[in-house]
Order: sequence, then C-alpha cells, then structure tokens
Amino acid sequence: MSDLKTGSLKNCYVVELPRIRAPEGSLTFIESLNHIPFAIRRTYYLYDVPGGATRGAHAHRNLCQLLIPVAGSFDVTLDDATDSQVWHLNRPYLGLLISPMVWRNLSNFSSGSVCLVLASELYDESDYIRDYHEFKSLQGRK
Ligand code: TYD
Repeated sequence: MSDLKTGSLKNCYVVELPRIRAPEGSLTFIESLNHIPFAIRRTYYLYDVPGGATRGAHAHRNLCQLLIPVAGSFDVTLDDATDSQVWHLNRPYLGLLISPMVWRNLSNFSSGSVCLVLASELYDESDYIRDYHEFKSLQGRK
C-alpha cells in the first residue's frame, strides 16, 4: 500500500463480494488482488466472543485487512485521529476493508458470530500500535 492510501478513513470501505445464490444455499468467494486490493498472506477468525466484549483497540503500521461477518454481526468503529465512523457488519458477502494506520474497535458481537479476517501480512507484533496516544502523535494530531 502506498502512503497515500494509509491513515485515512477515506481509504476504508465496504467491499461487496461475489455471491452465488442457489436454492441449496449461498456461496461467496474471494480472490487475492481480484476482489480485494491486496494479496492474502494470513487469515484468522474471531469466535466465541462473549457478550459485551470489545476486541481490537489498535492500529497497524502496514497491515491491510478485510473483516467479514461470516456468521452473525458486530460493529467496527474506525478512527483516523480526525474522524471516526461505525460500521454494523451483518452480511457474509459484505466485508470492511481497513487500510493501515487506522485505529479499530470491534464490539457488539451477536451470539455465535464469527469475524473472518483476511490480512496482507504475516503476524508481526511490531506492526501493531496499541497505545492510542502514540497513534495520534504518529498521525500528527497530539
Ligand atoms: P490481537 O490482534 O490483539 O486480537 P484482537 O485485535 O482481535 O483483539 O491478538 C490477540 C492475541 O493473539 C495477541 O497475543 C497476538 C495473537 N495473535 C497471533 O499470535 N497471531 C495472529 O495472527 C493474530 C491476529 C493474533
């Protein structure tokens, strides 16, 4: 991702994924660099999230992610140190693309919900910014 694409809510958006609907059920698929603007190097998923729990509370320096509510629903609050916006994700064919240098909180998980995450990089703790004040100052807004 180029610097121009990072650090702004303007570069975070909902991606409508392909959907094959049939009487026997629906199918959605995702291809690297085709349906999303990055190559997938890692996937993980959040599940068994207790009611009232909040996840996230960090930003990433370089990582790009797509969050998909493959079951149930949850809210994602994004914050670029200037603006914030809340997305309610509740369709398994609609993913939220999060660019680097955007703070995220995930909350309001419905019972049995599963959040699938596609990520552009392998796990690297040094890519995380877990202190909101540090995030704000890196964004140039103390
Ligand atoms: P974290 O990304 O902080 O979770 P969330 O944002 O959903 O609240 O990760 C929680 C823990 O899991 C942390 O100790 C790092 C570890 N972890 C891995 O080891 N590999 C991974 O790919 C991820 C996403 C997390």
